Amino acid sequence: MLLPPVLDMLLWLLLASALLGAASSAFVPADNYLVLCGTSASVTVAGRTFAGDGQLPARSLTAPQSVEANYTSPTTVAGADDPALYRSARIFTAPASYTFALKQPGRHFVRLHFFPFRYQSYDVATDAAFRVTVQGVVLLDGYTPKNGTAVVREFSLNVTGGTLVIAFTPTGKLAFVNAIEVVSLPDDLIVDTAKIVGRAVQYAGLSTQALETVHRINMGVPKITPASDTLWRTWLPDQSFQLDSTLTEHRNATPSKVQYKPALATKDTAPPEVYATATELSTSGEPSTINAQFNMTWRFNAPTGSDYLLRLHFCDIVSKTGTGVAFNVFVGTWQVLENYEISVDTINTLAVPVYKDFVLGAKDATGLITVSIGPSTLGNAFPDGFLNGLEIMRMVGSTGAVAGAADASTRSSKVKIGIIAASAVGGVTLAMALGFIALRMLRRRKQGKKKPSDTWSPFSASALGSHSRSRSFSSKSNGGNMVILGQNGASAAYRIPFAVLQEATGGFDEGMVIGEGGFGKVYKGNMPDNTMVAIKRGNRRNQQGIHEFHTEIEMLSRLRHRHLVSLIGYCDDRGEMILVYEYMAMGTLRSHLYGADQHDLPPLSWKQRLEACIGAARGLHYLHTGSAKAIIHRDVKSANILLDDTLMAKVADFGLSKNGPELDKTHVSTKVKGSFGYLDPEYFRRQMLTDKSDVYSFGVVLLEVLCARTVIDPTLPREMVSLAEWATQQLKNGNLDQIVDPRIAAMVRPESLKKFADTAEKCLAEYGVERPAMGDVLWSLEFALQLQVGSSPDGSDTETPLVPRSTTPQVQRSQSIASVATDDAMTTNLGDLEGMSFSGVFSKMIKSDEVR
Ligand SMILES: *[C@@H]1O[C@H](CO)[C@@H](O)[C@H](O)[C@H]1NC(C)=O
Ligand SMILES: *[C@@H]1O[C@H](CO)[C@@H](O)[C@H](O)[C@H]1NC(C)=O
Ligand SMILES: *[C@@H]1O[C@H](CO)[C@@H](O)[C@H](O)[C@H]1NC(C)=O
Ligand SMILES: *[C@@H]1O[C@H](CO)[C@@H](O)[C@H](O)[C@H]1NC(C)=O
Repeated sequence: MLLPPVLDMLLWLLLASALLGAASSAFVPADNYLVLCGTSASVTVAGRTFAGDGQLPARSLTAPQSVEANYTSPTTVAGADDPALYRSARIFTAPASYTFALKQPGRHFVRLHFFPFRYQSYDVATDAAFRVTVQGVVLLDGYTPKNGTAVVREFSLNVTGGTLVIAFTPTGKLAFVNAIEVVSLPDDLIVDTAKIVGRAVQYAGLSTQALETVHRINMGVPKITPASDTLWRTWLPDQSFQLDSTLTEHRNATPSKVQYKPALATKDTAPPEVYATATELSTSGEPSTINAQFNMTWRFNAPTGSDYLLRLHFCDIVSKTGTGVAFNVFVGTWQVLENYEISVDTINTLAVPVYKDFVLGAKDATGLITVSIGPSTLGNAFPDGFLNGLEIMRMVGSTGAVAGAADASTRSSKVKIGIIAASAVGGVTLAMALGFIALRMLRRRKQGKKKPSDTWSPFSASALGSHSRSRSFSSKSNGGNMVILGQNGASAAYRIPFAVLQEATGGFDEGMVIGEGGFGKVYKGNMPDNTMVAIKRGNRRNQQGIHEFHTEIEMLSRLRHRHLVSLIGYCDDRGEMILVYEYMAMGTLRSHLYGADQHDLPPLSWKQRLEACIGAARGLHYLHTGSAKAIIHRDVKSANILLDDTLMAKVADFGLSKNGPELDKTHVSTKVKGSFGYLDPEYFRRQMLTDKSDVYSFGVVLLEVLCARTVIDPTLPREMVSLAEWATQQLKNGNLDQIVDPRIAAMVRPESLKKFADTAEKCLAEYGVERPAMGDVLWSLEFALQLQVGSSPDGSDTETPLVPRSTTPQVQRSQSIASVATDDAMTTNLGDLEGMSFSGVFSKMIKSDEVR
């Protein structure tokens, strides 16, 4: 519908005013007392009018012996934004108090302004020493002002009654004050809980805690004065607090770019001017520093004896996409945020402000508080890291109520997990916690069901019975970062004695070799029950291999899918690293497309190619979405897609696989591994691994299938060496017909070919975020298959009916989720496995799984 131009404009105006209304709904404090002490005059400072306390109602000031110190001040007052506040003071020689009637209880700022001077016979700089209390909380005790400098002491207190009383008690000759602010604060400014530094527990009770702002810093350059802050705060620049500013650089964006989002930081948490600047780990400089590992550190003086609340402000004005930055945050020597990714909190949006609170126990705040940002320790990620703002607040009157971090070590990790789960807030965390509990319950039930081993035993029972089941890799022996086999409730691979494998391969006869790679050789094996298996024997000299060996056992033991090659067993006798898989009679997809072995094989038809791609896509889709944690294959290539005797494709070789990011993260950082020609350029650049890296590699496989050529061919002209580069360029230029494998070009329906090529192109998008998910790829390929076979009754290969609806990705996804969340997991997986031709071994194994 076309709107008439006037209406259109009206709509825009309405929309704009609504937006403006939302944006300008600045906080209006219910209570806003601005008092100039020792005078009846008023001054206006940065748009705020301070009224002389001589104007206050009589009962507001209870000062039996006070002196109005009204004098002509020097024109400049060190440390003050505006000297006007410091030209008078009220001097008390006996206890005195100001009483303010409050319109609204809750948290209030109490700001006290001090500038000592000589007035008549009073030498305030020398003689002042006093205590200030509010509602029984001692804010200052024995305070002596610093000569020649104006000081603002800022406190925030949650006042429950209808009045707020500020009491001054001289502890020396006199007390004094130049100006007072009592201002309401937004209720959500200080939340009740925060993580305790160095401990796995939360601090609760901040909402009633009186706080004093000790440092409020704007990382990046400008000082921010009260006029630019909705709560009239001052933010100082960070340079003078930095240990080594040569390691850092400043970033800044236009403050209007900062986008506040619900449930995160608000304008009142800190103004856009704070979030629009940051100090960042320096990544420019010489190339050799790219891999430099260093922290940027700020150091602050902080009086001993109190607990502290630290508030760190983050806003990604640094990255290009709002994703992909991870770094570590330390308070003192304690890591408080490990591989923190702001994108998790901001849902990958740029310039969204976020803050994080931490409580530092008095034992750990020994006069100096340091805050450091260091590069992520995961892999060799770039030394990224930034901080936009920092507030250090003394917990007034806390006197070390929070135990130090040293106590933490005495707690067992189980207790920690319990406490974290219990105190976790927020949907995702809660969901994860629930998932965790559900998994535990599931596991326990399974354990309960476990029956004596009356199951599978084609080999010697003694070697394979309960003994092998209970066998597990201890986490000590493999570096501790592997999920321990046998403990996650799904291990199903069997330990097979070396002698059995020796016999199956005729003593590892060279004639039985069906493949060879960096890891060692793959043999065909004939097991005692006459099933064929593939036996991959790792090269024992390959030290790196041990990790991949364990990864593969661990991964494949957890995974059961008809499009993933099944692991039947393993052997680690005598330092061997042997993996036993189901036998895939037709070898690799690669060998059917091109290469040395290809000559003996007829070329696959377009339909067979599509089906192989769909099968592999299903396997990868299952990896990415089928379990609670996505699994990233990391080495997707045509040589790792195997075909069984019916040409059904299965994904193999999980040696490089990695658990994907946690539910609430977007990537894992890691060293770049994988195969040349298939590597995701984004992963290569940033060492950040996501499931979209697999999608890229799979896109290269699709090109191999399309063009039937190797991914890197150095014998070709330069622009053709890389398949991914050459083919995407050709596709961009509309030369699809020139790159398609000529052997099949005639059989392919153009719509199907186009759909297929489009899919490949999308998979190869420069940035991961632009690539489709594996489920979408799967859907597109199925569509391409329909375009090939569905509408062509006289086509070359039409014997297969259309792909039934029930195999669409959506249905698959919900099944996979169900399979981790409920006890029906095994049944669901078995359902999925139905109809495939198992080897005898494999079907027996499934059975034994069932009764566990
Ligand atoms: C100081 O006191 C004199 C008279 O007592 C008054 O006129 C003047 O306004 C006062 N100045 C300030 C800054 O309060
Ligand atoms: C405070 O500073 C003033 C001016 O600089 C000076 O005259 C006075 O002696 C100082 N007083 C003390 C106690 O240092
Ligand atoms: C102030 O404390 C009361 C309890 O005394 C609490 O209910 C309230 O939420 C607190 N207000 C704020 C803003 O923290
Ligand atoms: C950063 O500081 C923390 C805490 O002192 C320390 O544990 C870590 O090793 C440092 N990292 C680097 C890269 O220097």
